Amino acid sequence: MTTNPGMSSHRRLWIALLLLSASVATAHDLDDVDIPKLGMSRPEFLLDPARAVQALVAEDFVTFFYNQTLDHFNYRPESYTAFNQRYVVNSEYWGGADSGAPIFAFLGAEAPIDGDIANAGFLTDNAAQFRALLVYIEHRFYGKSIPYGMTLERALGDADTRGYFSSAQALADYAEILIHLKQKLKAEHSPIIVFGGSYGGMLASWFRLKYPHVALGALASSAPILYFDDIIPQDAYYSVVAKSFLESSSSCHQTIRQSWEELDRVASEPRGLTKLSNAFKTCSPLQSSSELKKYLKLLYVQVVQYNDPSAQPLKLMCDAINGAPPRKGLLQKIFAGLVAINGNLTCYVNPSGSDAQTPSGWFWQTCTEMAFPIGITRNTMFPPEPFNLNSFSNACKSEFGVPARPRWVTTYFGGHVGHSANQINLAVFFSSLLLINFCAKPEEMASDLSNPRC
Ligand SMILES: *[C@@H]1O[C@H](CO)[C@@H](O)[C@H](O)[C@H]1NC(C)=O
Ligand SMILES: *[C@@H]1O[C@H](CO)[C@@H](O)[C@H](O)[C@H]1NC(C)=O
Repeated sequence: MTTNPGMSSHRRLWIALLLLSASVATAHDLDDVDIPKLGMSRPEFLLDPARAVQALVAEDFVTFFYNQTLDHFNYRPESYTAFNQRYVVNSEYWGGADSGAPIFAFLGAEAPIDGDIANAGFLTDNAAQFRALLVYIEHRFYGKSIPYGMTLERALGDADTRGYFSSAQALADYAEILIHLKQKLKAEHSPIIVFGGSYGGMLASWFRLKYPHVALGALASSAPILYFDDIIPQDAYYSVVAKSFLESSSSCHQTIRQSWEELDRVASEPRGLTKLSNAFKTCSPLQSSSELKKYLKLLYVQVVQYNDPSAQPLKLMCDAINGAPPRKGLLQKIFAGLVAINGNLTCYVNPSGSDAQTPSGWFWQTCTEMAFPIGITRNTMFPPEPFNLNSFSNACKSEFGVPARPRWVTTYFGGHVGHSANQINLAVFFSSLLLINFCAKPEEMASDLSNPRC
């Protein structure tokens, strides 16, 4: 365990966050792999400056590195390899081990932890009231927590190494670190509550399922743990995006809805792609209209997914689209919306070169475990684009040599209700027999966070 002075430089983390968000939509041109990233770190244009400043002035975050086990589930020689895993502690508010004050643990997701420390205001907002210790743990393979000290690019390029990149390994990492931390602080009576947003929220709920002896509770925010197999309709995601646009402004929704055909029409004209490249000031000439359509689709998604009430990017975009002079054509209106969100840049759509980790790391994670069947079958403001498991899986095979495992999450963590009433009754009967001797009487259990009994 070593202390790292690095956190003093909050500027650097901010820049990392900006780089990260800038490239979300551009990393992979493969079709059928544009499962939106789910992490909390918002794109640059959506950052709330007030919140950012608040995070920057917090001087109380101390960085540690835990000597983490590469492979928790096998006993091969290389399983015992260790790597440095970063976690960050803020003890400013903590009531201390003696008073059994709680530990709030933020579980990192598909990005370096820096962005979460800056953005996850919920923990700092509530820390004083609960006198909580705050811990933020970085997900393996992101940020400074990559095995063998590799870059993510190298780690993902190596079939043996990337095999250790999974949510089950990440949850085991979190369990080890939290148990280690409690020992180190002699805080065995401090209950742990885990927190996470989006994929991190999925991890929080799964952590509580698998490690109830480590976490007394979990707060999972926007965690799509049921967006697997056929549990919910594949349209769910994009229909919410379209509905948000419709509710914000029906003329904006209508303009976007009509724009796809217009994009295709212009693209099919002589020198059409050049016309489109000029109209959208693309950073390099478009190779196909789908390149532009994909970019716009992800932009609309981000505007809704990160629709911060203080910045209101959805309203900003629709105001610009609606407010474009009437003589402007459909595509100029769309472009006005793009500029409103991104600001006045020298070029748009396909900026070159970015070393952000989220797109490539998340691509691996969706190819292996998180194969969300997100598609568009209904006629919303987006053109229909049904999820096609075969082409998705083929894209994964060509990138990583492995097919997607779309049923593994529900097999491992659950999701489907697959039991008959009789099985459930039997299970309840046996578990109540077991629990009867362990549970404290109900009145003793009353919301005493610091002294869980059951
Ligand atoms: C980290 O763990 C590995 C494997 O358990 C061990 O060989 C190594 O000595 C440890 N390193 C440190 C710095 O504790
Ligand atoms: C972009 O530049 C134009 C003209 O200089 C200006 O009117 C507009 O407000 C700018 N837009 C943004 C989003 O900065």
